[in-house]
Amino acid sequence: MFTAADITRAGPVDAPVIAEMVGELLREIMASMGETLFRFDRIATESRAQGWLTNQSYAAFLARYPGEPRPVGLLTVYESYGLYADGTFGTIPEFYVRAAYRAQGIGSSLVAEAKRYAVARGWTRLEATTPPLPEFEGTMRFYTRQGFQVSGGRKLKLDLS
Ligand SMILES: CC(C)(COP(=O)(O)OP(=O)(O)OC[C@H]1O[C@@H](n2cnc3c(N)ncnc32)[C@H](O)[C@@H]1OP(=O)(O)O)[C@@H](O)C(=O)NCCC(=O)NCCS
Repeated sequence: MFTAADITRAGPVDAPVIAEMVGELLREIMASMGETLFRFDRIATESRAQGWLTNQSYAAFLARYPGEPRPVGLLTVYESYGLYADGTFGTIPEFYVRAAYRAQGIGSSLVAEAKRYAVARGWTRLEATTPPLPEFEGTMRFYTRQGFQVSGGRKLKLDLS
């Protein structure tokens, strides 16, 4: 039996640690893909996170582990609109558990909290994206076990900056 992590909703004061963990997540993805996909700027990320947490356009949940002063996991979510989704729904743009704390149920607890948050808002679904790489097959299995299904689309972007 694993020690349960404590999951709390983050506030603007947590922006620095959120930016730090987002940096770790992006570096892990770029190391797996062997490409510079993200221009991570910690100060700008922290300031954006602080703004979005203040105006509540974006929610973040932090997992804390007994005896560990810094949070060990992060899940962020924001409200999205799509007529195809039959209403408002939640998109998870960042989801990360520090490597030493994985496979102990922390990710599952973060998703459970995100589901409660989504249901309380009447959202019709949660959507997440994972890199299409063998290194992320574990993440796919994780999402599948949590009840997520592949929705069929491919993620595209048009850079405007
Ligand atoms: C996906 C992730 C958030 C899950 O968190 P977690 O705390 O390990 O999740 P749980 O302990 O609740 O579930 C463990 C399952 O996660 C999956 N998993 C995915 N990547 C893993 C990894 N690097 N190490 C351990 N488990 C991993 C495994 O399928 C594992 O199943 P198992 O118990 O049968 O081995 C975490 O592994 C992670 O941060 N991975 C790297 C970043 C990532 O993929 N983010 C999401 C998409 S961008």
